[in-house]
Amino acid sequence: MELNKDIDQIDIPHAKRTYLNNPNSTLLKKLLIFYPFLFLIFSVVGLRFIRNVGLIPLNNLKFQVERNNGERILGHLPYNETPKEKLVLIEPNIIVHMDMRDSLLKMREEAKKDGIYLVFLSGYRSINLQNDIFYSLKSIRNQEAAERARVSAPPGYSEHSTGFAIDIGDATQRETDFETHFENTDAFKWLIKNAAKFHFKLSFNKDNKYIDYEPWHWRYEGSIEALKVFESSNRKL
Ligand code: DAL
Ligand code: ZN
Repeated sequence: MELNKDIDQIDIPHAKRTYLNNPNSTLLKKLLIFYPFLFLIFSVVGLRFIRNVGLIPLNNLKFQVERNNGERILGHLPYNETPKEKLVLIEPNIIVHMDMRDSLLKMREEAKKDGIYLVFLSGYRSINLQNDIFYSLKSIRNQEAAERARVSAPPGYSEHSTGFAIDIGDATQRETDFETHFENTDAFKWLIKNAAKFHFKLSFNKDNKYIDYEPWHWRYEGSIEALKVFESSNRKL
């Protein structure tokens, strides 16, 4: 008896019970009721997020395309100056990229066999020289930059600085040098028929809306380096 009394007096810790009608359990009940709706909302938001993540590369691509277009200045793409060790002098005042030398000289030889006399007018031009051409002539001719850019690239934007561009004339009709009517010469007609055999391509054709037609300006695309250099230009965007 004495023992039972003692036991009654012992404070036995008991588990804390939570009844569903206390404020916390009301919240739980609400959560349970709304759980299917919450699940649905989170699923929809999650799926949209995954879809958007999947679309990122496409958005990036669009951005890249816009950026490439934005790289142009007055219609000209940027080109690095080719290092001196890759340049060779093929005749007085005509320097070209070493990759294109053999093909260019071969083209002139083959033309000669057909009675066509090609003359090289301008090859590699440093960015400094291009700077002088662009700004001095622009000023002498009282032309605005956009006007000048139709016939001459701004410094850092000329194919000539790569060493892969060559301006060609007809040795028998020098009055057509750098003139649109060079297109009427035998040299030009021969080039149109044969230049691709030697990996040369006309850079500025009549379709170009920013740069005037230049029948004398050809670029070499016969090496991987040259193709890389002209990749942006060749990409149809
Ligand atoms: N005449 C061409 C556009 C150049 O200057 O590169
Ligand atoms: Zn040129």
